Amino acid sequence: MKDQSSSFEKSIPEVYEKYLGPYLYEPFSKYVTNRILGDPQQVLEIGCGSGRLTNHLVNSLSQTAKLTALDINSNMIAVAKEKVQSYQVEFVHGDAQEMPFEDNTFDFVVCQFGFMFLPNKQKGFNEAWRVLKPRGQFIFVTWDKAENNITLHISQETILSHLKASPPAYFGRAYYSMNNPDDLLAYTKNAGFENGKIEKVSLQATCQTALDAAIGFVEGNSIIKEILKEGGPELLQKIESNIVKRINSEVCQDPVCSEINAWLGEAFK
Ligand SMILES: C[S@@+](CC[C@H](N)C(=O)[O-])C[C@H]1O[C@@H](n2cnc3c(N)ncnc32)[C@H](O)[C@@H]1O
Repeated sequence: MKDQSSSFEKSIPEVYEKYLGPYLYEPFSKYVTNRILGDPQQVLEIGCGSGRLTNHLVNSLSQTAKLTALDINSNMIAVAKEKVQSYQVEFVHGDAQEMPFEDNTFDFVVCQFGFMFLPNKQKGFNEAWRVLKPRGQFIFVTWDKAENNITLHISQETILSHLKASPPAYFGRAYYSMNNPDDLLAYTKNAGFENGKIEKVSLQATCQTALDAAIGFVEGNSIIKEILKEGGPELLQKIESNIVKRINSEVCQDPVCSEINAWLGEAFK
């Protein structure tokens, strides 16, 4: 299998985890963990990234439970492995569109901010349904529209306005490619899930400084390679300082506090 590494390469996952982890992914990791029903014994996390949600999941599961955390990017898994050290967790390198698991294996399947990056999103939902046990619970989370995730939007807009080359497929619009609740429900229905519901989740995100956020958005993503290729460290610095200016003038002064919005889908097999 090709290690697509989507938007994340070595060391980039470390920056992603350090700067974006506590800011964007921690609030949703807590929220999602609170939604687990019952006492699932076989749990699958799809697109585990740097292990934020993995950590919360394993701490909330009973001691007899087993958590399988899958990601297509082995560098992300390496960061997650350092963060989450538990006999209950097994990290697996694999593609959400073709998972290396038997049918009807898991009691609970979750994917937080991973499906947006799949070339074939329906395949991801079909696979989640296939590996879930009958009556099992499925939860997924995707970003809402750009304007409802203002610092992410400002950062991406600023980056794109400074780049001459077209952005790679994973960047920009990909993040917001799953913001229509009707489409999300259709994915679950088409996959075979029942009793699906989609709800909007708005949480507060806080980050000490706009510069921290800018570093996370720019250097915690493979887009940094395109930036350095086009304009070297000077362009990088210019982009980060423009992001800081825009966040501080359009959102708030430091510390940065803003609403982050996503869609949470829940369905059953
Ligand atoms: C934005 S991160 C989210 C990580 C984590 N779920 C969280 O909430 O912190 C998206 C993750 O999905 C992974 N990913 C992208 N395409 C994937 C695929 N086809 N199969 C499995 N994982 C994938 C990426 O490598 C990345 O780690």
